[in-house]
This record gives sequence, C-alpha cells and structure tokens, in this order.
Amino acid sequence: MASSSALICETEPWKDLRAHVDDIKKTHLRELISDTERCQSMMVEFDGILLDYSRQCATLDTLNKLKNLAEAAHLKEKINRMFNGERINSTENRSVLHVALRAPRGSVINSDGKNVVPDVWQVLDKIKDFSERVRSGAWVGATGKVLKDVIAIGIGGSFLGPLFVHTALQTDPEAAEFAIGRQLRFLANVDPIDVARNIAGLNPETTLVVVVSKTFTTAETMLNARTLREWISGALGPQAVAKHMVAVSTNLTLVEKFGIDPNNAFAFWDWVGGRYSVCSAVGVLPLSLQYGFAVVEKFLKGASSIDEHFHSAPFENNLPVVLGLLSVWNVSFLGYPARAILPYSQALEKFAPHIQQVSMESNGKGVSIDGVPLPYETGEIDFGEPGTNGQHSFYQLIHQGRVIPCDFIGVVKSQQPVYLKGELVSNHDELMSNFFAQPDALAYGKTPEQLLKENVPHHLISHKTFTGNRPSFSLLLPSLNAYNIGQLLAIYEHRIAVEGFIWGINSFDQWGVELGKSLATQVRKQLHASRKKGEPVEGFNFSTTTVLTKYLEVKER
Ligand code: F6P
Repeated sequence: MASSSALICETEPWKDLRAHVDDIKKTHLRELISDTERCQSMMVEFDGILLDYSRQCATLDTLNKLKNLAEAAHLKEKINRMFNGERINSTENRSVLHVALRAPRGSVINSDGKNVVPDVWQVLDKIKDFSERVRSGAWVGATGKVLKDVIAIGIGGSFLGPLFVHTALQTDPEAAEFAIGRQLRFLANVDPIDVARNIAGLNPETTLVVVVSKTFTTAETMLNARTLREWISGALGPQAVAKHMVAVSTNLTLVEKFGIDPNNAFAFWDWVGGRYSVCSAVGVLPLSLQYGFAVVEKFLKGASSIDEHFHSAPFENNLPVVLGLLSVWNVSFLGYPARAILPYSQALEKFAPHIQQVSMESNGKGVSIDGVPLPYETGEIDFGEPGTNGQHSFYQLIHQGRVIPCDFIGVVKSQQPVYLKGELVSNHDELMSNFFAQPDALAYGKTPEQLLKENVPHHLISHKTFTGNRPSFSLLLPSLNAYNIGQLLAIYEHRIAVEGFIWGINSFDQWGVELGKSLATQVRKQLHASRKKGEPVEGFNFSTTTVLTKYLEVKER
C-alpha cells in the first residue's frame, strides 16, 4: 500500500542539487582538474586502496550538497539499521545482514534479538571440515576415488558472485598453489549446451556436484540438478548421489526431498539476499573446495574490513559512501543513466557481470520503499569488460558518443608479473599505462585548436574532436589477493546500498524478475501439451502463437 512519506526529490537538498547542475555544466572537467587543491581533497585512501574522484563533474560545493542530501535521506540511520539487523527489506519482511557472513568470530550482530554470528561460524566450520575432507581424500566418491572436480549448479546470485571470485583467484599465486589438480566449474544456464560443456571431460567418479539455490525451487537450477543427478546415478548407480551431491540452501526441507542427505547440506538464512550471498556457503563452499578454507577466510576478512570502514568512517572518507553519492549525482542530476565498470585486470573479467546483477537487481525499481511511484529514475545500466579489451570494443562510444561515467579499477602489483627483455616497460606497466591514460582522455578530450596545431586536415577536425568532460573514478588496489578481492566486492555492495538508501527504494527485493518466471510456466505447459498430446497452441497472443507454432514444427529428437 502506498503511504505518504516524502520522496527524496521533494526535499530542499535535492532541489538545491538540481539548481546546482547548471553551474556544473558551465565548468569543463579540464578546468576542474587544473585545481590541485580541489583534486587533493578528492582522494580517499583506506587500507592501501586509493580512490581518486577528482575526475567527477563535481566541485567541493557539490560534495557538500550531496552530504546534505545524505542527511535528508537519513543515510547514516539507514546504514545503522542495516547493521543492526532491522527488517529493512520490508516487502519481504527480512533483515539484510550479508555483513554478518564475514563478521569475525565472536562478534555480535543481531537479527530479531538473536546474535547470528555463531550460526554463521557453525556453517563456516562445517565447510572447513567438509572441504578439508574432500581435498585430502578422506571423503571419496562411490568408487573410492578422490573428488578433484566440482560443478557448482546455481543461477543469478547463486552463481555470479562465486564465479567472479573464482575467476579472480585463479591466477593469484597465493590461491592457485592450493588448487593444483583441481577444477571448479559453474553450471547456470538451463540451456543443455551449458550442461554439455560442464560435464565435458569430467568423470562422474571424481566429480562432486554442489547444488546452490537459496529457495531450492529455481526452475533452471532444479532441472540442471536433476540432469546431473541422472548423470551421476546413470554412471555409478542411485546410491552414489549421497557421495557426489551436496547442497547449499535456506530450504533444507526441499534439499532432503530432492534426495540430498541434510547432513551434506550447508545452510544460510533468509536475511542473506541472493545477490549478496557470495560470502555465505553459496560462495564459501565451492571456493573452499577449490582453494582451501584458509584462502576463502582471507577473502571474508577483506570484505569485513570494508564493512567496518563503511559502518564507521565519516562520509567524506568513506569509500562506498563517496562512490554511492557521486553515482546518484551522475544518474539523478547529470542525467547519465549508465556506468561502465572497467577493471584493468583480466582476473576481474567476471566482476562487471556480478556487479551488473547486484546493482541492477537491487536498484532498478519504480516505486519508493513505501510503494509510491517514483517521479525519478533509479539504478544504473551497468556493463563492462576488462581493459584493455574494452578499449578495442565499446570505448569509441564512451569517448565520442554518449557520456557514460566510468569506474577504472587498477592494481599496483600484478598477480602474474612478466618482464620481457628489451621491452620499455613490464607487461603490467603496459596494461596500467592505459589505466592511467583513459581517465584523462575522457576528462580533457581534444579540441579543434589542438588538432589544427597538429596539422590535422580540415575535413577531419570534427571527426577527431573529443568533447571531453566525461566523468570517471579511478580505484587503485594494492594487489589482487583474496583479501583485496573481498574488499572490492564489499565496496561495491555497500555503494549500491548507499544509492538505494538515497533514492529511498528497497534495494533488497526483486519483484521485477517474477513476471517472466510465471509466463515461462504457461509456455512450458503448452510445450508439454503440444509435444505429448499434439494439442494446438492456445491462449497466447498472435505473435507468441505464431512463433511457438513455428518452433513446434520441428520435432524433438
Ligand atoms: O533471478 C531472480 C533470483 O531470484 C535471484 O535474485 C537469485 O539470485 C536467483 O534468482 C537464484 O535464486 P535461488 O538461489 O533461489 O536459486
């Protein structure tokens, strides 16, 4: 039911920022970044991480106004309510406590008056024990062979986070040494091609399947789970399932119904949102099987260090808050609806897809937390690729087409340094030259006057002109080990929460994905009726009926 509580756009700080846009639009970034004092105050450093936000189309005055907006949105109170375990996900009547998943043993975080940290550590201890038994060969498959390969089945939040972290750790020498001889694969899509690719080259005798689903009802995951259950029992007999399949879920009843021994199930809780679940058993179990629990614990510590920073640092020195407020500035005031996430590290190739889900599922909303339709847009269109690959793909549009605020993410120390004899710089320096060059290229652009001085032919001047004035963040991490990867994750999770808190929406529900799911159920029934009983396509509009009929013309093998 809609209530009448004020929307953020009705407050004075919002109106003040609206009026301020004209001032900012008058000033080119070129001028803004020539002010060293301004730039000095637009750097935040925490635990070896440096955020440079001097290339935002913002002045110190803008930041003050954004702080006023934060106050009007009760940002501090909302952050505290989250950490205090209040049911801030009001449409699902749940707390939002992913921070508890990485809280140090012995700390206290309450949900409904109950400290949840001991429960968290009970599951972590169980994962440590189980993963050590599997890795050491104390737990073996049905035919007595060591389970060296893992397929994690899950989709959305039960897939993208763990995939990002696994991809990032793969080449980290501190993690990779513990993964020698082991494989971790992810089966997400219900497309049978994904199944085929996942099982290709694997032997059921040496494979452990982890079914990851918060609800244990997601159609894609459950079909994939049944498919791999058949793959295992077909090869090794039905009794092998107990040794080769385990589960991660909040719904242990359905896990048991599926045929997985509840003792081999790893729980999490309804106060963990799917897209915020990588630090629960969702990520910790598959990653511990691959790299060992100690590596994953380091990842959790990294995330926890940012939780503590986010909870306690003053807003001006608070990485997620600064990032979040300026993102709101870009979307809601400057009118830039997209954000490019551009890590200059191949290890972070799955970071943008993960953040895409966290951000777009969280903040792509049309009503306020009280159910009031919003007169302003929320959320960003997130996309990205690692540099320098992206430079040879979509950067053209970013430089001369639409204005898309960019997050440049760089790493000081490469996971895999290479120094080729005779080269001017190391391979990593070569990569990072681009990380440093791109933000300035976007900010400064290139003027016709400069081009004339370079004797560019007249007919090409307009084609080679870059307007510049395109905002970006530069985030420099000291290295890319498990700890820093955890930090990076938490910075983005909290930044997204900050944005949602300012917009006054519920960033922790996802009703928007339900409609497609229910329509698919209707189509599934029709496909069954047509294929099995030859029934005609009925009850759909002309367009769907035509395409469905065409699809059904070809019989399945
Ligand atoms: O796509 C919607 C969604 O509900 C996501 O929020 C979630 O991460 C995903 O489906 C998978 O859900 P589950 O973990 O319950 O299988």
